[in-house]
Amino acid sequence: MKYTEKVMEHFLNPQNTGTMEDFDGKGYYGSVECGDYIEVYIKVKNNILENVSYMVYGCTASVATSSMMSTLAKGKTIEQALEITEDDVEKALDGLPEEKRHCSNLGVGALKNAIKNYKGIEVSYEESIF
Ligand code: FES
Repeated sequence: MKYTEKVMEHFLNPQNTGTMEDFDGKGYYGSVECGDYIEVYIKVKNNILENVSYMVYGCTASVATSSMMSTLAKGKTIEQALEITEDDVEKALDGLPEEKRHCSNLGVGALKNAIKNYKGIEVSYEESIF
């Protein structure tokens, strides 16, 4: 298994990590199979994701994909952020090894759940796992 330079860059220097005290929305997402887990926090101003941060527990690819999700989402409108896909994250990292492709679900799933939470929409347990 070989990671791209971009993956290693984000793994060794993950962007936007940490919790957020004054968040407007918070979302979780985790894999039952591998146990990887993420919490995402968003700060919204004028419909724009002014800040996006996260805490992730997981493998190299989980850290790198979470970091990339945060850089893609930050500064986007709510609508644009909802359009970010696992493929977008993977492409921005110049690819992921086949067995690590599922890791890109984490950040994207938790981001969507954080936006739901911001909108006051309840997120079920089933929507927080894959
Ligand atoms: Fe499962 Fe990374 S190994 S999310």
